[in-house]
Amino acid sequence: MGSYPLPLVLGIETSCDETSVAVVEDGRRVLSNLIHSQVELHKDFGGVVPELAARDHLERLPDLVDLALERAGLEATDLNLVAVTRGPGLAGCLLVGVGVGEGLSAAWQRPIIGVNHLWGHIYAAMLARPDLEPPLLGLVVSGAHSDLVRMPEHGRFEVIGRTRDDAAGEAFDKAARMLGLGYPGGPALDRLARTGDASRQPLPKPSLPGLEYSFSGLKTALLYRVRDLGEKVTPQDKADLAASFERSVVESLLEKLDLALEETPTAEVVVCGGVAANTLLRKRAAEVVGSRARLTMPPLDLCTDNAAMIAAAGYFTSHSHFTSPPRGEVGSRLRLPGGEVEPAPIEVNPSLGWNS
Ligand code: KG4
Ligand code: ZN
Repeated sequence: MGSYPLPLVLGIETSCDETSVAVVEDGRRVLSNLIHSQVELHKDFGGVVPELAARDHLERLPDLVDLALERAGLEATDLNLVAVTRGPGLAGCLLVGVGVGEGLSAAWQRPIIGVNHLWGHIYAAMLARPDLEPPLLGLVVSGAHSDLVRMPEHGRFEVIGRTRDDAAGEAFDKAARMLGLGYPGGPALDRLARTGDASRQPLPKPSLPGLEYSFSGLKTALLYRVRDLGEKVTPQDKADLAASFERSVVESLLEKLDLALEETPTAEVVVCGGVAANTLLRKRAAEVVGSRARLTMPPLDLCTDNAAMIAAAGYFTSHSHFTSPPRGEVGSRLRLPGGEVEPAPIEVNPSLGWNS
């Protein structure tokens, strides 16, 4: 490819509980993608502790940057761009990533771009499928989002469906807690569900009109069922409940994807975000999309948070961000439409939506 002027991108991702640094070439080829999970740090607390997460990101980043360059077989001077997540996410965690990114950008004299984490999840699909181009229909399912989006071209997204209450990942995490599975809940519930039978413990499938999701009613239904079973709940009951909860979430997610595809047929469909690592969702998405479109679901390590997707998003959106950037040239001054200026500081936005 190589159609954009800044081919070698260092990505930094610290929005939640993964510290990740990656080097990506031409927005498509992952040269290195190091991911440090903070599961051990948070597991005794049953969830992410923001202050601990931010401090750990700060401690880990310098070594991860060195290692990402080493694994990619590159020197810092080979890089053309630094891309860092600026939101949405935990404020303190985002500030650490952006602060380190800006420091590297200044020290290396390379331009830097702030990346929308949600865009990153979609761009993970570009790493998985080298010939994938917009327009596409995307289902982004993560810890905080269940969004249906249309992507008409690079760097443009239109939200056509979202959740009224909990996101799918949040629902999985809460259900896992009710079943005594702890943190991180989604992957544990996935594993338990594999040994269960959904039909033995049927739960309602949420169904709102149009392209809206809602998972809070389903969550309450599970809570009451667990309460009713009380002391006599068996490990098999728990596995059956996990399978049933998973089936309801997955079928609800795909019902709306199906509807969106019916309403506006699209050749390319992407299902991505942490929840796209779910075994049943992967299997059923392929069946539901069928031959109507080409489905891309990134491999598991590109579904959950990682810096390669941030580097890819930075690559594909850099051309509209900077005009005539200094290709491989030393100097952090950027040529913008109004002339040559110092790069503006990156604005961290913990509640960033899809529109920037
Ligand atoms: O995209 P992600 O890594 O972080 C956010 O941007 O939020 O998504 C994390 C979410 C968590 O809620 C986690 O429980 C869920 O993805 N998740 C899963 C699975 N793996 C991760 N949910 C269901 N099944 C899985 N295998
Ligand atoms: Zn994410």
